[in-house]
Formats: sequence, structure tokens, C-alpha cells
Amino acid sequence: MASDFYDKLIQTRHHIHQHPEISGEEIETTAFIKAYLLHLGIRLLDLPLKTGLVAEIGSGQPIVALRADIDALPIKENTGLAFASSNNAMHACGHDFHQASLLGAAELLKAQEEQLKGTVRLLFQPAEEIFQGAHQMIDAGALDGVSAIIGYHNNPHLKPGQIGLRTGAIMAGVEQFKVTVTGVSAHAARPDLGIDTVLAITTMVTNLQAIVARTVSPFDSAVVSVAHISVGNTWNVLPAQGFFDGTIRTFDPEVRQRTIDRFTTIVESVANQFGAQVTIDWGNSPGVTFNDAELTPIVFEASKTFAEVVEPLPSTGGEDFATYQEKIPGVFAFVGSNGDPGAPDWHHDDFIVKDEALETAVNYYVHNAVRLLDYLSQK
Ligand code: NI
Repeated sequence: MASDFYDKLIQTRHHIHQHPEISGEEIETTAFIKAYLLHLGIRLLDLPLKTGLVAEIGSGQPIVALRADIDALPIKENTGLAFASSNNAMHACGHDFHQASLLGAAELLKAQEEQLKGTVRLLFQPAEEIFQGAHQMIDAGALDGVSAIIGYHNNPHLKPGQIGLRTGAIMAGVEQFKVTVTGVSAHAARPDLGIDTVLAITTMVTNLQAIVARTVSPFDSAVVSVAHISVGNTWNVLPAQGFFDGTIRTFDPEVRQRTIDRFTTIVESVANQFGAQVTIDWGNSPGVTFNDAELTPIVFEASKTFAEVVEPLPSTGGEDFATYQEKIPGVFAFVGSNGDPGAPDWHHDDFIVKDEALETAVNYYVHNAVRLLDYLSQK
């Protein structure tokens, strides 16, 4: 590929990096993408989205979707880059890189539109960081008629030119829980006259650790972490109410459901044992990013033609791409973006994605879109 193509695309990425917008507020970002695609002669879909947009190249079935997220984080940038953020937000997760690579892929796919064996649908998704964007896209109809979806996240622990891919879980299912326990306040010297929320909560926290120890197979894995407890405020009063919150991480949809069910049973039965009331609030968080068993090997082989493909351990982080995969088969990869020892992780104020990683990301979209259209059109 001519280097002036990538020189221009790198400038595009720098521009996006310099003008970040946080989740749900990607107004200028969306306008920029829209103008960029229209300039390339790419048709936009008229979907009811406040931010983010959907476009198409090619025609007819099958339809393969390519997804990039576009939102930034409320972090003050501290990279010292020449193209550092010009405001108080930061592309500290590299979504500037994701959307720039999809714009580059769009240009290359548009140039071969006549040869495509179906349609490539481009999903520029807002609000990934707050786990709302995928739901918004699906509700707006972005997946209608789509047979398969491809996405990726940059990964600073892999080098530019590397792709990380595995069948099954590649990122964790995330649960955010808050358990509120209500009893009856009493003097600490007369606990028999109240319902003790301190003992109920600490018993719940202890018993929840039996989930991983005693209901998850030794060949599966899960994490149950209570990270915060708040109950009571002095030494001689048993409080009427308290809560604890934390997170569950799982790597298999069945294990996820079993862990949630077990969690609920333990919390409710302990509350019942003490005569306390309990409510569980589950936050809005994504399921397991679970790569399709049929399509992942195809993407794996196709990616070997332009990248070094490795099989990483799944990340314990979450990704709302999982929401698409609950509807249709999908493949989610990691694209190497730094690889230096000690490279800052996602969401750090000195997080840096290297420019030279861009070509592999563009190739990931282009080659796999073409390959999956070929595959699906022959099924
Ligand atoms: Ni991200």
C-alpha cells in the first residue's frame, strides 16, 4: 500500500485524537466521520442515532458488519504528544485509532466495491465506555440483515504487526453488583431486639467466595470480588441498613449465568436466615466477548496473510462488542499497538498507540470482510 495513504490516515487519526468527546457526546466526532465517508462516496444509513453512524459498501446479501467504537474518556491527557488532546477528555483507550482504521478500511473497500460478494456495513459505535453504545446500535437497527460482525481492540501488550485471536472468550463477561441489606437497628448491647445487618453482610461476603471454590469447574474460571462495604458508623449501634458492591468476571456464557444464579441464591438465603430484607442491583455491563467457533478459525487463517497471529489469554476487562455477539456470530481480536515493556495500559493518562500499528488494523478489517463475504456467500 502506498505510504501516502497511511501518511494521510495517520494524520486523520491524530486529528481525531486531538478532538476527543466522551461517551454519548460524540457530536463533532460523528460529523467528522460522516463528512469523511460522504467524501469517499460511501452511502450512509438513515438510522435513529444521536451519535455514531452506520454506512454501507457493496450490495445484497450476505452482510458483514465491521465495528469501531468512537468515544473517549474523561481523563486529562499526559502523553506530551504533539497531537495530544485539546480538551479535558482523552482517547485513553485508543478508540481514535479504531475509528481511523475503519475509515481507512472503508476507503480500500470502496475501491473494490464491484468485487465484493455482498455488503460491508460499517458501524461507528458511540458510548462503548459506558456499555450503552452497542445497545443503541442494535435498537436503531444496525444489525438488521447482518450475518456476521467483526471488531477488535488495540492491545498495548502486543507489538504493531501482531494480532491476538482465540475461539471462545477473549474478554470477560462483566457483572457490577450492589447488594443492599435492610434490618432493624438496635443498641449493640441488645442485638436480640434488632436485625443485624453487619453480621448479615459479612456472612454474605464470606459465603460468596464459595461460588468460585465450589460451583465453578476447575477447568473453567471466574472472579467474584466484593470491593466495597458500607455499614454502620459507630461502635455501639447496630445499623438498620448497609450495602456492599463489587464485580463478577466470567469467560463462558453458561458459567456466567450459573455464577449469577448462585450469587442471588446465597445473598437471598443469608438474608432470609437473619430475617433481613435484601435487594440486588445489577449494573448495565456486557456479557462474555465470545468468539464464534465457526468463523474465528477463518479469520485466524486470513489474518496470517498480513500479520503475526498469536493466541492470548482472555482479558479480564469487558467490552460491549459482546452485546452484538449475543445476537449474531462475531469475531473480536486484539491488534498490537505498542509492545514496549511497561507500555501504559488502557485508560492511563499516558496511554499511547503507535502509528505504525495502523496498517495491521486496516488489513484486519479489509481482508476479513472480503474473506467472510466470500465464505458466507458460498454457504
Ligand atoms: Ni476501549
